[in-house]
Amino acid sequence: MTVSGDRRNLRINLDRLEGRLRELARIGALDGGGACRLALTDEDRRGRDLVVGWMRELGLIVSVDRIGNVVGVRPGAEDGPPVVAGSHIDTVATGGIYDGCLGVLAGLEAISVLNEAGIHTRRPVAVAFFTNEEGSRFAPDMMGSAVSQGILDLDEVLAIQGIDGTILADDLAAIGYAGDGAIEDFRAHCYFELHIEQGPVLDTAGETIGAVTGVQGIYWTEFKITGVANHAGTTPMQSRHDAGYVAARIAVEARSIAHSAGANQVTNAGFLRVGPGLVNVVAGEATVTTDFRNTDVEALKRATDDLVEFAKRVAAEEGCEIAVHPHARFDPVTFDPGSVALVEKTARAQGHAVRRMHSGAGHDAQMFAANCPTAMIFVPSRDGISHNVTEYTAPEDIRAGADVLLQVLLEKAEEV
Ligand code: GLV
Ligand code: MN
Ligand code: MN
Repeated sequence: MTVSGDRRNLRINLDRLEGRLRELARIGALDGGGACRLALTDEDRRGRDLVVGWMRELGLIVSVDRIGNVVGVRPGAEDGPPVVAGSHIDTVATGGIYDGCLGVLAGLEAISVLNEAGIHTRRPVAVAFFTNEEGSRFAPDMMGSAVSQGILDLDEVLAIQGIDGTILADDLAAIGYAGDGAIEDFRAHCYFELHIEQGPVLDTAGETIGAVTGVQGIYWTEFKITGVANHAGTTPMQSRHDAGYVAARIAVEARSIAHSAGANQVTNAGFLRVGPGLVNVVAGEATVTTDFRNTDVEALKRATDDLVEFAKRVAAEEGCEIAVHPHARFDPVTFDPGSVALVEKTARAQGHAVRRMHSGAGHDAQMFAANCPTAMIFVPSRDGISHNVTEYTAPEDIRAGADVLLQVLLEKAEEV
């Protein structure tokens, strides 16, 4: 069965979608317009409660699995795995209001449209949000979707210690989202994620829709260095075991490795903490993290291996201990060509300028790609700014992306 002409003309209600975006953004609101709902904090709980309330109002059957992923299902005429629209509602500490939330709330908007139009789809349609996509408090990122799709092990993930020293399972229980849904129960017929681009490509080109062909690989590494805290004035330079110095060298070397690798290699050292963190004490301990990304998996491995080797050598030279933790090792992912083509065709049929493009950011979609046909829809981010309170996507672009998502879901929901 294909989608009839009437259904093809269905469009989302932008006011309702933006209203939900704004209401969710009030939870953990930051000065300047963003929001902070770090995973498994009280703000995350309040955001989840709000969205689950909307799911129930829309008549979805809501379940929560053991890693706290939430899925709301609208039954179809036939049973079987649902057509899924998903993303996340957790944020980084300096989050904007669109990253993740747009995909989830556009999914709910699609359900609202189906309900209003009294449409009964052949397949169930589901909206899902996944635990800790950001990975800022507990590494790695895309955690809930990775567990859900069998890429990370549930028990190992539940035991992870976060940057605040707490254990993930405890925080999940504390916010009331340690569900009882079996992890392996969630399999999708197909998965689509609307997301802001978070980079400058569409905005610069003046194009509206990105038909995303895949996601680059992401390798996160944490280096924990132990030296000797000592007096900053009296300790001769050659006698120091300065953990802060080693961490700083690692941060600088990461950047120079990325520069020499060229091509698509990017990196940053986004977390750097030294202890005791006092002006007149040689640092006795330090932690630094690096985030290497590349579409070329061999180059990505090489860059990361080179940095680890460098870190061990510099630590040894300084007489420090070093522990290297590979927090995320997600190889590049290619999305299903048929699903990418469907996004492109749908967007063009709606009159939008479309670009096929790779994602620089990580997304829950990359965890689904191994198990079902998957693709993403990007909309522009003004000036390519994201993970920043000034993150902004224009209303007409939100409308365009959500309308493409709606039509893609409708098409897939009639697939035999
Ligand atoms: C996750 O959202 C990332 O790309 O860091
Ligand atoms: Mn995101
Ligand atoms: Mn993000």
